[in-house]
Amino acid sequence: MRHLIDITDLSNDEISRLADTADRIIADRQAFSNVCAGKKLATLFFEPSTRTRLSFEAAMLELGGSVLGFSSADSSSASKGESVSDTVRTVGCYADIIAMRHPKEGAPMAAAAKSPVPIINAGDGGHCHPTQTLADLLTIRREKGRLGGFTIGFCGDLKFGRTVHSLITALARYEDIRFVFISPPELVVPEYMKNGVIRRNRLTFAETDSLEQALPELDILYMTRVQRERFFNEADYIRLKDSYILEPSKLRAAKSDLCIMHPLPRVNEISAKVDDDPRACYFKQVENGKFIREALIMFLLGLM
Ligand code: NCD
Repeated sequence: MRHLIDITDLSNDEISRLADTADRIIADRQAFSNVCAGKKLATLFFEPSTRTRLSFEAAMLELGGSVLGFSSADSSSASKGESVSDTVRTVGCYADIIAMRHPKEGAPMAAAAKSPVPIINAGDGGHCHPTQTLADLLTIRREKGRLGGFTIGFCGDLKFGRTVHSLITALARYEDIRFVFISPPELVVPEYMKNGVIRRNRLTFAETDSLEQALPELDILYMTRVQRERFFNEADYIRLKDSYILEPSKLRAAKSDLCIMHPLPRVNEISAKVDDDPRACYFKQVENGKFIREALIMFLLGLM
């Protein structure tokens, strides 16, 4: 039985196969509409979500399966003190596969150790978010035609942004990528990543606090929200929250084929005026997220 806890649980080959399957689903959705008939997906969300939970549910429904679950810790027995291991052992009696989001780093891994069914990490604290990364990789592959040979800028909260951590980890295994980390000094990429995946893979990277300076050289810009829920004090959040705001005027200096990404939700980081720019890819990312989750569900259920 396979789980998806960290993006490195998948090889690059498996990621390509998932992306190929997602491309095939996009080309002919009808052909997949019964693949998961009789199967159930449980979504256990101990932390808020719109896209991730609903895209998992939509993905399973589009494959002909059904869904059950909860969308907050308050409405589950976690509020009575139940451990995640007991929760998944229980839910494993009701469902064939579980997608789980939890505020504590490592909770999905602990759950997987006891789960009778595959566990998908749908985000654990500030740690990682492998299915957002699959959505990001599919988007990059569809927009750029390749995974490698580009300069990607990550901008905003690189300290707490789990989507950033997972995407850097995934891209570290592809060739010829330059990373530019754009953040205020308080929100730089964590040391454990610099000493780990970044050093181990000898990634080429630059760090700056200036989006304006970095923008002209980028092929991909990955904007992120400052992660309010991970701050210890509100004053710091308020001071840092509007560090970067992408406006149409700033984009004049950017490449004409720049791909602007954001895992969403956005707060102020990208002005709504950017949405009509053909370089804006964040709503395509949302759609791609559903299709790659369909492929992932099929893969983990042994149906791909
Ligand atoms: C992200 C997350 O939950 O980490 N959202 C998502 O799943 N698309 C990003 C965020 O909340 O900022």
